[in-house]
Amino acid sequence: MEMKMTEEGIGQLLAQMTLEEKAGQLNQKGPSMVGAFGMSMDEIMQMVEDGRMTMQDLMDKMAGAKADYYEDDLRAGKIGSYAWASVEMCNYLQKIAVEETRLHIPLFFGYDVVHGFRTITPIPLGESCAWDAALWEETARMSAREAAANGVKMTFAPMVDVAKDARWGRIAESAGEDALLNGDYGAARVRGFQNHDLSRPDSMAACVKHFAAYGAVESGRDYSRVDMSEQKFREEYLPSYAKAIGAGAASVMPAFNDISGIPCSVNRKLLRDILRDELHFDGVTVSDSNAIAECVNHGIAEDRADAAAQALSAGMDIDMNAGCFADHLVSLVESGRVSEKALDEAVRRVLRLKMKMGLFENPYFDEKAAAASILTTENLAVARKAAEESMVLLKNEGVLPLKEGTPVILAGDLADMAGQLAGTWSYGSKAEDFTSIRTVLGKETAVKYLSTDAVLAQPLPGFLTGGRHDRSDDAETWSNADDAEVRNNPDDAEARSNADDGEAQNNPDGASISFKPEAVIAVIGETKAESGEASSKSDISLSARDMALFRKLKETGLPVIAVLMNGRPMAIPELAKSADAIVEIWAPGIEGGEALAELLFGRINPSGKLTTTFPYASGQCPLYYDHISTGRPAGRFKFTSKYLDAPNEPVYPFGFGLSYTNYTYSELSAVQKGSNIEADITVTNSGQRDGDEIVQCYVHDPAARRVRPVKRLAGYRRIHLKAGESERVHFTITRDAISYYDAEMHYGTDSGEIEVLIGGSSEDTMKAAVDYRRAD
Ligand code: NOJ
Repeated sequence: MEMKMTEEGIGQLLAQMTLEEKAGQLNQKGPSMVGAFGMSMDEIMQMVEDGRMTMQDLMDKMAGAKADYYEDDLRAGKIGSYAWASVEMCNYLQKIAVEETRLHIPLFFGYDVVHGFRTITPIPLGESCAWDAALWEETARMSAREAAANGVKMTFAPMVDVAKDARWGRIAESAGEDALLNGDYGAARVRGFQNHDLSRPDSMAACVKHFAAYGAVESGRDYSRVDMSEQKFREEYLPSYAKAIGAGAASVMPAFNDISGIPCSVNRKLLRDILRDELHFDGVTVSDSNAIAECVNHGIAEDRADAAAQALSAGMDIDMNAGCFADHLVSLVESGRVSEKALDEAVRRVLRLKMKMGLFENPYFDEKAAAASILTTENLAVARKAAEESMVLLKNEGVLPLKEGTPVILAGDLADMAGQLAGTWSYGSKAEDFTSIRTVLGKETAVKYLSTDAVLAQPLPGFLTGGRHDRSDDAETWSNADDAEVRNNPDDAEARSNADDGEAQNNPDGASISFKPEAVIAVIGETKAESGEASSKSDISLSARDMALFRKLKETGLPVIAVLMNGRPMAIPELAKSADAIVEIWAPGIEGGEALAELLFGRINPSGKLTTTFPYASGQCPLYYDHISTGRPAGRFKFTSKYLDAPNEPVYPFGFGLSYTNYTYSELSAVQKGSNIEADITVTNSGQRDGDEIVQCYVHDPAARRVRPVKRLAGYRRIHLKAGESERVHFTITRDAISYYDAEMHYGTDSGEIEVLIGGSSEDTMKAAVDYRRAD
């Protein structure tokens, strides 16, 4: 029986290691598209364009790059970890590491398990709308059960980048625009992924990313610059990382971007002074993919060797995909450019992580248990709950909920594209795991499905051709036979594969059925490729095609329920004005269709609230609730802070979301106790349905020594209220929630008035003023 690895054992191991083996532990290999070819993607695309390489060559090379696991390097001890590929591949490579390398040091495998492994939950932006830390922890736990059993011992998650700009595609991976929510989300994910013990077969290391302020990239353009005051950085961006790291995260990923001119990968102040010294982080830093090499592109490093030297010295431990550490650390230490002590510290941290993961004792993964861990009933139930809590009812003119069995027209390609429910970062999932909205609704009621092309290109049959729908008309007769246009015009392979299931379920024998729709459900928004990494947009409105679909459907005179499926807030002024109902479902995951059906037919009461502001127009971006107080707040007078051609207000504000009941707020009280403010409010479910309300508490400092936000979230509670029930909800507003950095970087608060605002949305609150006395 193996001896359990100890801190002392790590010291002994380190003493035996060659410089090459040390550098190897810091080398993470994976099939990165960017790093795999030894030349830039631009150069490769140029070769394809000028004919030096055919597209087929490129595809072959890419397939080859993925299949190349650099086994000779592994045997020589030059690789310390890999990007995950499959449980079989983990065991195969692990055997080489454990049996064939000189020191038998096991590997670990990392992967982007962002919102589920096989059982995909809503994208983080969606799940954040549940405002439910217990849920965030539960879904992370569920992901870890599946992923860790399959060999993933580190997930490159949670991302806790505060994202205030809807143009940035990675807003989908965030918990929205607020620092407190991102911090709570991140801490809950860390607890869920790690479960206090990385050696458990069902837990994995979290990697808090992207450190830091990646969400603030200029113009919302991915990989762009970040430049901000230290005050803003520390008040609005640093806290979410600090909270997630404080929850015990085993690793941190420095971001691609620079902060005020210094790329995070080589940013000593960030990675040593702040991360290690201030936040007391003692885990492993893992670079973003190829990010060390990209310091040459940033123009901050002369070459890859210089980049490696700067990164290691700044505090980077693992080089993901760039190969800079592997290629250059040995000579850099030999030449004295990098100290061996710095190298040893990094290697020690990596070995310690492997020790905590229990890999020295249990390096292999049980393939039977791996298969059994996925898509269990329990896991699917967690995904269902998450999808239900994430959906946000944005508008409802009395259309919803639909009565059970209401026949509907279902329109829009996204309704038929099951795999799109997965959203960005769902590579571990399989298309066949998903059931399209069309299929799910088809099991519920009579559904006539029309693809977008079918609506746009063909004259609409019967009552769908112009004029108002007269409910006293004779029922339209539909048969499967006149669906030819639907089946002949699918837009992609996915649509094709799902093209005729919904109808068939309603009408299994293909006979004519009597069908009189009472509502139209239009599923519109974005495909999963339109948000996520490298998916920034300058225009975040709905596509012309979706708008044309919506307008044509409106012409039917039937109530139109817009179901929005997207990875970012979208500019939807026309929808907000003329849709009869709007349900934001984000990319809701594997149980998304079922959760939507529950919501549409009123078997659940919608409870999600926005964690991100919906603007009128792309030009308003970044638009967020906690903007600072200007000297000239927008007003009717010309010379005030506003646009000539767009309102200042959002279409839907942060914190907004409707339900099938009503909540009223009364009896707000707020008093100072010690250095905190204690606030209480009565929340009453004044409608007819039981439901969950998300109660939000904001603060505002109207006279401070540095300009303050017009409001800032200080706390929130998700409460369940039966119809007619009231609850007194309490918030402790800590001194931290009203503290800030002044011009000289002193942190603290002032004596004077503090406004406490509590309500069901950032724009719908009761207000109380507290005469706050600083107690020091
Ligand atoms: C690049 C992304 O920025 C990061 O979030 C991700 O973890 C790595 N690629 C690995 O996939």
